[in-house]
Amino acid sequence: MLKRIVSLISALISVISLVAQNSPGDYLTADFHKARRAAVRKLLPVNSVAVFFSNAVRNRANDVDYVYHQDPNFYYLSGYQEPNAVLLIFSENQINENGKRYNELIYVQEKNERAEQWNGKRLGVEGVKKKLGFEMAFNGIDFIKSKIDFKSFDLVTFFDFKEDYRDSSANADLFDLIQSFKSKANYPSNYNAKKQQLYAMIRSTPILNSANVVKILDRHLYTDEELKKDDLLNSYINANNDRLRSEVKDKVDLKLKANNLNSSLISEIMSTLRETKTEEEIVLLKKAIEISAVGQVEVMKAMHPNMSESEIQGIHEYVYKKYGAQHEGYPSIVGGGNNGCILHYIENNKQHVGNDLVLMDLGAEYHGYTADVTRTIPASGKFTKEQKQIYDIVYEAQEAGINASVVGASFQATGKAASKVVAEGLINLGIITDASQARTYFPHGTSHYLGLDVHDKGTYQSFKENTVITVEPGIYIPEGSNCDKKWWGIAVRIEDDILITKDGPLNLSAGAPRTTDAIEAMMKQPSPLDDFVLPKLD
Ligand code: GLY
Ligand code: MN
Ligand code: MN
Repeated sequence: MLKRIVSLISALISVISLVAQNSPGDYLTADFHKARRAAVRKLLPVNSVAVFFSNAVRNRANDVDYVYHQDPNFYYLSGYQEPNAVLLIFSENQINENGKRYNELIYVQEKNERAEQWNGKRLGVEGVKKKLGFEMAFNGIDFIKSKIDFKSFDLVTFFDFKEDYRDSSANADLFDLIQSFKSKANYPSNYNAKKQQLYAMIRSTPILNSANVVKILDRHLYTDEELKKDDLLNSYINANNDRLRSEVKDKVDLKLKANNLNSSLISEIMSTLRETKTEEEIVLLKKAIEISAVGQVEVMKAMHPNMSESEIQGIHEYVYKKYGAQHEGYPSIVGGGNNGCILHYIENNKQHVGNDLVLMDLGAEYHGYTADVTRTIPASGKFTKEQKQIYDIVYEAQEAGINASVVGASFQATGKAASKVVAEGLINLGIITDASQARTYFPHGTSHYLGLDVHDKGTYQSFKENTVITVEPGIYIPEGSNCDKKWWGIAVRIEDDILITKDGPLNLSAGAPRTTDAIEAMMKQPSPLDDFVLPKLD
C-alpha cells in the first residue's frame, strides 16, 4: 500500500513539474520502456547480451548539425532522446564488484553546464535514473573504463555500425563508445554483418527450403562485390544436391560458432516486438495519424491553383506543429501533376499547381510515432473525367486492400487484392492490354508496417492483432507513357493507416475524406487561410 502511495505521489510530482515547464506529459512511460527491455531479455538465448547504440549526430554543414533524432530501437527500449549512449541488456543477472545484481546497464552523455547552455538540457545519470527509471545508469566514460568481458558471452548481438559517427572533443562520444565496444568484443576489422546474416539464414533454414535461400543469396551476391567473393555462399548456391548443401550448412555452422558476434538476432527480436503495438503505442500512433488527417482536411479547404507545392507542404506541417508533433516522420511529398509520378518526390518546388491533381504524402511524428497518409486532390476543386476514372480504380483497389487487412491473412494479401483491381481497371480503360503490364503504372508495394519508423520493423509474416499497416495503392502515368496522351501526368496514390484488430481493419486516417465526392465537398468549405494574405515582396 505504502509503495502505491509513494508511486502515486511521485507520478503526481512529475505531472506537476511537466505542467510547470509547460511540456507535454503524454510520452511513453518508464514502465513501457522497462517492459520492452524485459521482452527483449526473454527472447535472448542463454548467456547472451544485446548491445544498442544511440543514433549519431549528423552534420548538415559547417557547424550546423541536422536536428537530432534518436534511433527508434534505442528510444523504444529506453525513452532516452540524446546522442552518445549505449544500452546493454543481459539474458541473465550479472553481479558487479560490489555484489550488486543487474540485468541491464545504460551509459549516457555526461551533464555539462556549458554544453547545455548552448545545445539544451541533458538528462545525465541522475535524470536517467529518475525520469527513465534505470537503476544502473552511468556516464559514457564509465563504459570505456569498464571491464565488461564481451568474450565471455556465448552471443553478443548488436546492430552493425553505419560508418557515419564522428569523433568530437568530448571524451565519450559515440565514436569512442563504439571503438571501446569493438576492442572489448574482439570485433574483427573485416567483420561483415551482411555475410553473418546470410550465414545465419542458411543455418536456420531447412534444406527443404534451400531454393528460397538460393534466390535470396543470388540477389545479395548480384549487388555486393564483397559477398560475391565468399566461398561458402558460392558453394551453397552452386551445390546441386541436398547432401552437398548440408555439407555447406555444417561449415557455415562452424564458422558462426567461431565468433560470438551476431547482427541478425537483434534485428529479428526487434522486428518481432515492434510489429505489434501496445495500448500506449496505439494512443500515440492514433494521435499522429489524426493530426495528419486534419492537415489533409485543412489543405483541401485552402487549396487553389495558384498555390505552390511548398506552400501546401507548409500548411500540413503547420498543422502538425500546432498539435505538438515535433517532426515529420519522413520528408514531405507534395507533387503536382507529373511530379506525383516520382514516388518519393521531395523537391516540392513547383510554383503553381495549376489544374492538376496534387499528390500529398505526409505524416506527422508525435513522440516518435509517425503517420503516413496520402491524399490526391484536384487543385481546381473538381476532378476531370480522366482524373476521376484513374482515381476510382485506385480507390477500389485500396478498399480491396483494406478489406484484406485481417488477422491471420498473409502480409501479401493487401497487395494481391489491390494489384488485381488496378490491373483490371487499367485493362478496362485500354491503358494496358495484359495484367502483367500493370506494374509499369503501379510499381511499388501496397503495405508496410507503421510505428516508430515510417517503414516500421516487422516480420512480414501473417497479420497479427494490434499491428498498424498502410494500404497505399497508386497509379502513376508519367508524360510520354505508352498510352493515350489524355492520361499523361495523372498520378494518384491513396494511403491510409490501418489498425488490424480481431474485429477487422480499423482505418485510423478516416478523418481525411477519400471518395471523389467527399473530397470535392470538402474543397468547397471555406478556409481560415482564404484571408491570410502576406505582403508582396519586391
Ligand atoms: N511515405 C512513404 C511511403 O508511403 O511509404
Ligand atoms: Mn507508406
Ligand atoms: Mn506515404
